[in-house]
Amino acid sequence: MTEIKKIGTIKLIICDDLKNTAKHGAKIFAEAIRKKSDLVLGLATGGTPVELYKELIRMNKEGALSFRQVNSFNLDEYLGLAGDHPQSYRYFMNKNLFDHIDIEKSNTHVPDGTSENPDISCKQYEESIKEANGIDLQLLGIGSNGHIAFNEPGSSLTSRTRVVDLKENTINDNARFFSNKSEVPKKAVTMGIGTILEAKKIVLIATGANKKDAVSKSLNGKPNPNIPASFLQNHPDCTFIIDNEAS
Ligand code: PGA
Repeated sequence: MTEIKKIGTIKLIICDDLKNTAKHGAKIFAEAIRKKSDLVLGLATGGTPVELYKELIRMNKEGALSFRQVNSFNLDEYLGLAGDHPQSYRYFMNKNLFDHIDIEKSNTHVPDGTSENPDISCKQYEESIKEANGIDLQLLGIGSNGHIAFNEPGSSLTSRTRVVDLKENTINDNARFFSNKSEVPKKAVTMGIGTILEAKKIVLIATGANKKDAVSKSLNGKPNPNIPASFLQNHPDCTFIIDNEAS
């Protein structure tokens, strides 16, 4: 059973399980792409979006959805990892989505983790988003500490794409993707909260009991830097899709 509520400006969709959150999310993405074939997507990595990407791949393979004119911008990348590193987010995107759909790779953008001048690359990333006329539809996960992209607690509402230090709990959460915790990079490049809030529409997906606290604090209480996802309350078109465990 799916429950739909409105909390302030945020639309909250509560699904039975992870599979259904992915189905709901994929439907929103597919409808938006069908309406505007050259949609600009903001994309996320991590465990959460994998099922949603599988749905999009299935639709593409069945001929029900084309990404031929779609552009994409990913939220973040580990500093120091090149695109061919198996734990880099560029690698993740290729393996979990781009390699399986008809998107032009040259239309896909992931922040450069190995730039010699990361500050300049961050500015250029912001410029590229502007040149593409902004992000139409942004996908987000949420960290157990309330982060969105790698905007950790303490990030400001007006932050832009920049290099950040990862918090210990984020490093712990992400250690599961590495062979050991010491391999998790301690810095990353991330779109800022100001960058994310400029997306025309935002869909955040959260599943599992370890997201319950972060989801609740994001939706209830005033927006504040301790829970970066709470700043989404300032967005006019934001939907949270969560499963029962996260609610
Ligand atoms: P996860 O990460 O999907 O791997 O739980 C989400 C996030 O940190 O934003």
